[in-house]
Amino acid sequence: MQKVETQSEVAPHGGPPARVRVFSGIQPTGVIHIGNYVGAIRQWAELQRDYESYFCIVDLHAITVPYEPAEFPQRVLDAAAANVAAGIDPKQSVLFVQSHVPEHSELMWLLNIITPVGQLERMTQFKDKARRSKVGVMAGLLNYPVLMAADVLLYKASLVPVGDDQVQHVELMRDIAERFNKQFGETFPLPGVRLTKGARIMAFNDPNVKMSKSIDGSYVALVERSETIRKKVRAAVTDPGPPKKGSKLDDATPGVANLFTLLEVFAPARYPEFVAAYEAGTVRYSEMKQVLADAMVETFAPMRKRYEELMQRPDDIRDILADGAKRARPVAQRTIEEARHRMGLR
Ligand code: AMP
Ligand code: TRP
Repeated sequence: MQKVETQSEVAPHGGPPARVRVFSGIQPTGVIHIGNYVGAIRQWAELQRDYESYFCIVDLHAITVPYEPAEFPQRVLDAAAANVAAGIDPKQSVLFVQSHVPEHSELMWLLNIITPVGQLERMTQFKDKARRSKVGVMAGLLNYPVLMAADVLLYKASLVPVGDDQVQHVELMRDIAERFNKQFGETFPLPGVRLTKGARIMAFNDPNVKMSKSIDGSYVALVERSETIRKKVRAAVTDPGPPKKGSKLDDATPGVANLFTLLEVFAPARYPEFVAAYEAGTVRYSEMKQVLADAMVETFAPMRKRYEELMQRPDDIRDILADGAKRARPVAQRTIEEARHRMGLR
């Protein structure tokens, strides 16, 4: 298991809450893959034991890119089931759907008032998505990070566990919180990132790009069949032969480095011997892939089983989400009242 690094764990205003509050979101935009698991969900499942945790299926974020309304409700259920199957305990954590708690949209508007457009235009993810967009650049896409700020600040969460691609968005939400506090009075704790180091999983078919649900062939789904996991691991891009004796893992090609990252996550006990073999120039990638595939199957087969059971009972998933929204809402309402009051909206 990789060590997680904490940049900020306490709420600076009004002292730390009884238990530090964690918030994170995942978009219901298609398959959840092992990159999401390693970079996000796995961390959440660990954090929920020690922190008061809010995990949100961010449907309002997901609709900022083209989507199919008729399929969307199913995607939301699917994302919820995958998260529960992967270890989010809906009793321990508050698992809910963003649009079920309308205060997210309301706080976003209030935060829009104090968010400079220039700062939004500089967000890397916005620039990427705007460049690739075939339908023009909509205001919703630009304001995506403001909604993210609203998500976190609504619960006065102080810890946001995400992958490194989201760090810029968390920095922005700190700025927004700071500006709000300065302009309207101390209201929001400044949220900090909780990052899993080196957790970026690369595509199996092209290790120069991130494993992503939008690139076919790049990912292994969380609920992939065991045989498919084995096949995809076997086919992962590596090097034609072992490295020269005395090579350092830091200099490994991206495909090889990716396999080592995964091996460390899924088969930590076997990791050192393969690192040693790499440095000695005797590593056999086929053997390493076999060990990795076995370990991945061991982790993911029970998850797939739980996921399939849940998907047989969609009403149970809906109940879980309704219960989550019911627990989230009073907290959200309290913050909205406070923010409105501070802004002179009475
Ligand atoms: P997304 O799939 O973009 O909605 O991301 C959901 C969460 O998974 C975010 O915290 C991402 O940083 C994380 N994530 C997505 N893709 C990867 C990847 N290839 N490696 C590690 N983390 C990822
Ligand atoms: N933008 C995040 C992603 O794509 C998802 C997200 C929405 C989120 N709201 C959030 C993450 C609040 C952390 C906190 O991964």
